[in-house]
Amino acid sequence: MKALVLAGGMGTRLRPLTHAMPKQLVPIANKPVLFHGLESIRRAGITEVGVIVGDWHKEIEDAAGDGTAFGLRITYIHQEAPFGLAHCVVLGREFLADDDFVMYLGDNVFGDGIHEMADAFRRDRPAAQVAVTAVDSPQEYGIAETGPDGRVVRLQEKPRRPRSNLAVTGAYFFSPLIHEAVLDIEPSWRGEWEITDAIQLLVERDQDVRAVAFSGWWKDTGRIEDILDCNRRLLDVAQTSVRGTVDAASTLLGPVVVEPGARIVRSHLRGPLIVGADSVVQDSYVGPHTSLGAGCALTDAGVSHSILLDGASVSDVNGIHGSVIGRSARVGVSPEGAGRHRLVVGDDTELEVIA
Ligand code: DAU
Repeated sequence: MKALVLAGGMGTRLRPLTHAMPKQLVPIANKPVLFHGLESIRRAGITEVGVIVGDWHKEIEDAAGDGTAFGLRITYIHQEAPFGLAHCVVLGREFLADDDFVMYLGDNVFGDGIHEMADAFRRDRPAAQVAVTAVDSPQEYGIAETGPDGRVVRLQEKPRRPRSNLAVTGAYFFSPLIHEAVLDIEPSWRGEWEITDAIQLLVERDQDVRAVAFSGWWKDTGRIEDILDCNRRLLDVAQTSVRGTVDAASTLLGPVVVEPGARIVRSHLRGPLIVGADSVVQDSYVGPHTSLGAGCALTDAGVSHSILLDGASVSDVNGIHGSVIGRSARVGVSPEGAGRHRLVVGDDTELEVIA
């Protein structure tokens, strides 16, 4: 079995972060979201991976390389514009040849990985297998209706009036039959070649399309709140590992990861959390579910339930919560004095201050 990983697309819902990086490289628990996917593909026993890349191809190729670091062999396939998930299968045709494959959405994370679903597909070998889970807002997903035997009877992409609450998640298993179906569909109302429509064609052609439930949690990291939630869930299973330095005046509580070169000085750390390599935390509080990237600096600051990307800094500000702070961004106190806010805010940024 091969894997086709989709790492193109625009990431508009993740602006401003995605003005500066592709959404698949946004770090969650200090690792690009794409890497979590590549690791679970390897755990499923797959080594041949085609990665669909768009405008951000250079950044993604620089980060994931030829795949050796993950035990994979990666082939990059360029997509000129995000014409849809089914279009990615058309582009992948030559790489995939006549092998079975998993199509994995590069912005999705499965807490327990995908190896159990891969085993189910290898065992039963239906024409297609989708992984489904109940969601609160079915209008935002591809939705599956299933029969009592777990067979899919109907699929719809982001329906206005959903007929079920079973969302199709980002790990699709296909036999080569999908290659004919993707050529026989028309673009949807949003102008994309939808994989949901291609799978629906297989259903209409009486092919065996299965829906499998899976254990553990799943996240499509398409929005900032999903990224924070995914960060929280990944940190929940972190284990203490201190490879940087912690002075005698600091306290660590709960699972805390301090990466090499990081320094903790007169600070209180309450895990689960990660302090990235070469970061300095001084006279500060770092609360649960916080990931500080590499080279961050906290001075007289308090941060919890947040992600700081590499090189970000916070000084003299407490109570930062549920926040994402971009690379090399600086949060501090205005020299103008109390009651004034001096802001240099990038495009599409969200900022909440006390009025
Ligand atoms: O996350 C699950 C959902 O993913 C499914 O329930 C939907 O049926 C499915 O259409 C998809 O919906 P999204 O709107 O979330 O897809 P998104 O545009 O975010 O694309 C998913 C990944 O595929 C993302 O890493 C970008 C990449 N992509 C997307 C398109 C449209 C490409 O590489 N090329 C593309 O043309």
